[in-house]
Amino acid sequence: MSMATAQAQSSPSAFDVAAVRAQFPALHQQVNNQPLIYLDNAATTQKPQVVIDAITRYYSFDNANVHRGAHCLSSRATEAFEESRKVVADFIGSPNHDQIIWVRGVTEAINLVASSWGRSSLRAGDRVLVSTLEHHSDIVPWQLICAECKAEVVPIEVSDDGIIDMDAYTTLLDGRVKMVAINQVSNALGTINPVKEIAKLAREAGALTLVDGAQAVAHWPIDVTELGCDFYAFSGHKLFGPTGIGALWGRRELLENMPPFHGGGEMIQRVSFEGTTFNDLPFKFEAGTPHIAGVIGLAAAVRWLQGIDRKAATDHEAQLLARCDELAQSVPGLQRLGPDCNRISVFSFLLEGTHPEDLGTLLDQQGIAIRTGHHCAQPLMSRFDVPGTARASFSLYNTHEEVDALFSGLEKIQTLFT
Ligand code: ALA
Repeated sequence: MSMATAQAQSSPSAFDVAAVRAQFPALHQQVNNQPLIYLDNAATTQKPQVVIDAITRYYSFDNANVHRGAHCLSSRATEAFEESRKVVADFIGSPNHDQIIWVRGVTEAINLVASSWGRSSLRAGDRVLVSTLEHHSDIVPWQLICAECKAEVVPIEVSDDGIIDMDAYTTLLDGRVKMVAINQVSNALGTINPVKEIAKLAREAGALTLVDGAQAVAHWPIDVTELGCDFYAFSGHKLFGPTGIGALWGRRELLENMPPFHGGGEMIQRVSFEGTTFNDLPFKFEAGTPHIAGVIGLAAAVRWLQGIDRKAATDHEAQLLARCDELAQSVPGLQRLGPDCNRISVFSFLLEGTHPEDLGTLLDQQGIAIRTGHHCAQPLMSRFDVPGTARASFSLYNTHEEVDALFSGLEKIQTLFT
């Protein structure tokens, strides 16, 4: 055995994709009589067995409401629920666990900030900047609140490669801008945005920053303190966790000064017909019975991910994308959208002579799952003058063989149309 081989075999950072895949039951099935090749990870990730088990265990043995009951099951549920908050706080570098607010996902997180912070802070003539790369969930909540406050949503332009135009951004940053809402990674193109720099410039101009981390958290470690943003949001289901649960992190002084989002149980200190006082953080923003199983499942997903060599996983994903880009060069009529560098896990493309929807259907017949359409980013599609794209999106459990299968699949489809 050569020294290089020995080092590779004993390297602690060598990424064992087969061992990772073995933990995901959904990946080991056939669809349309073909082995499943799941390349729709930007839409949602599959779940490892430990996450499924954590949810099953909660419902099997600990099911009770949290913060309410004087009984054993309620204590166990509450303990698991609040311990999960600490797990998530630690995962994103939050200085305190009470700055983690449970939400249904990024969409609800942005609606919470737009509604609570926006309604109490935005005034006529103020501006909210959003990039042209944003998902509808980071555009529409701002449009709704700005219409109410007579403020304005202003897009930050992107280049032909789908990169934020930082000169245009800097020019827009005048005294009218109160919030910059930006995704860390574009769901439609995979562009990695320079959110640290964007937050710094916003801060210098007196504006806040909200970062939509939905497409980033599964791909590399996050530290909200280091990013310097004011709000950060992510969804559990894109992080190997359950659907219907996510987290909003916010700066303490902002969260403390913001009015509640929803009214109901849990978010109050005392209710009377003369007036109601509100609970402390984080409960002020958590009205009603929460998604307890979801929270516990999300913490299980985070713990699972923390057990993975993140650097090796990120490198593996980068290699998958590099292989994709390389194979794409020999496909006639294939046009890839998005930048060459600073992109992660998304291969968004058009194939001459085939509609993206047909591509999705024909690949599905070969067992290959991708997403097609506008990816909830219609302003971005308009920017590129396309109705939509075909999008393959990768996760740490995908393999080089699956990338190859995608391109063999495209080749077969091309023969149908020639
Ligand atoms: N936002 C998800 C996607 O990009 C649903 O597919």
